[in-house]
Amino acid sequence: MAHFIPEPFRIKTVEPIRRTTREERAALLAEAGYNPFLLRAEDIYIDLLTDSGTSAMSDYQWAGLMRGDESYAGCRNFYNLETAIQEIFGFQYFVPTHQGRAAENVLFSILVRPGLHVPSNMHFDTTRANVEARGGVAVDLVIDEGKDPTSHHPFKGNLDIAKLRAFIERVGPRNIPLGMITITNNSGGGQPVSLQNIRETAAVLHEYGILFFIDACRYAENAYFIKLREPGYADKSPLEIAREIFSYADGCTMSAKKDALVNIGGFLAMNSRELYERACQELILREGFPTYGGLAGRDLEAMARGLWEGLDESYLAYRLAHTRYLADRLLESGIPIVEPPGGHAVYLDALRFLPHMPRHQFPGQALVIGLYLEGGIRAVEIGGVMFARKDEQTGETIFPELELVRLAIPRRVYTQSHLDYVADTIINLYQNRESLRGVRIVYETRFLRHFTARFELV
Ligand code: F0G
Repeated sequence: MAHFIPEPFRIKTVEPIRRTTREERAALLAEAGYNPFLLRAEDIYIDLLTDSGTSAMSDYQWAGLMRGDESYAGCRNFYNLETAIQEIFGFQYFVPTHQGRAAENVLFSILVRPGLHVPSNMHFDTTRANVEARGGVAVDLVIDEGKDPTSHHPFKGNLDIAKLRAFIERVGPRNIPLGMITITNNSGGGQPVSLQNIRETAAVLHEYGILFFIDACRYAENAYFIKLREPGYADKSPLEIAREIFSYADGCTMSAKKDALVNIGGFLAMNSRELYERACQELILREGFPTYGGLAGRDLEAMARGLWEGLDESYLAYRLAHTRYLADRLLESGIPIVEPPGGHAVYLDALRFLPHMPRHQFPGQALVIGLYLEGGIRAVEIGGVMFARKDEQTGETIFPELELVRLAIPRRVYTQSHLDYVADTIINLYQNRESLRGVRIVYETRFLRHFTARFELV
């Protein structure tokens, strides 16, 4: 039986959500070009599009908004955030940014030039696009188990150390300004990375004089996985584990919209004074003065408070169990998902869910459309629509190995009965999977096409 841990909070404010009819949803989908990104949020019953910026803030965070100091420079909230970042992450310097990709943009504007390579376990789509937008090459070196949706490896987000070494030898360390690790590995199923792997990655990169940055969005969830799964860490607190994780890195990019439990915010942190000074110049040009970085004082305060709450042990135990509960309910009905489930999301394996559908009809997108039509649930495709690309020479489409549908779970937002509704809807869909129809793309952009693409049913 799927097991759950009761929520370590109670509800003080509610937000009504509306159920629509199937006929309404069919019309809304057609209007939105069968791309749920283009639906109005009010027409969605359970929104699992993302766990990013969708957290419910605590009363303590909301109270912090009233403590926002909106001075242009040197507001007190910046210093509260600085204390949190120094105590948790341990980096000497940081600049706030309005979200994670802005931190990536600032970092890569300093370090990436055309032809340079940036290896990672797996880049998230904005990270990859930001490297490529600077003419760089983003390379994924996750372990093979990380690409196998049925492997039960405890740390499927790990970077393959042998592949990293071979890669550095092949392209040359001078062509690699930095290496990265994404924790948890969002594009690979929200899978954690072990501390041992972080330590080894840092050692190899540093041996060649290459900087090591961590994409830290879901670092607290990753820390809790380490506590649960890695020998030697059961008695350590998430804070102690986080400190050790970042002690091996030269810096990090952070989207605070995930594990810092805020609706907007991020930062770029580092130890190098020189990098920091260059980051400040770029920040002033694009984001804002270095003590606010595109955010209001109140946002900085909510972020400072949220960083601490995101590390709370009873919250993290509930958080991972909550996600696990949905996964177990699906597994009990034989639904193919990425196993074991990650921290922030359950990923349906569309290739096994819809084995009859060819790749070029985008089975992941077909499933996403089915979820909305069937239950008013919004999810996101992480497969061919997001990552397929054309081979420059042959013009042939190269599909990514995985074709997933992500059910991302907003933090502290939905209850267990909401998850039961989601599970029941998916089970029903699975029983009627033969009726799902594939799609063809009728409109797309060059970068990040999944946000705005339009489709037709085939
Ligand atoms: N890195 C990772 C691993 C992410 O998951 C995201 C965002 C970013 C960087 C960029 O951060 O959105 O604040 O600019 N992921 C969201 C998601 C969008 O739905 O997974 P951002």
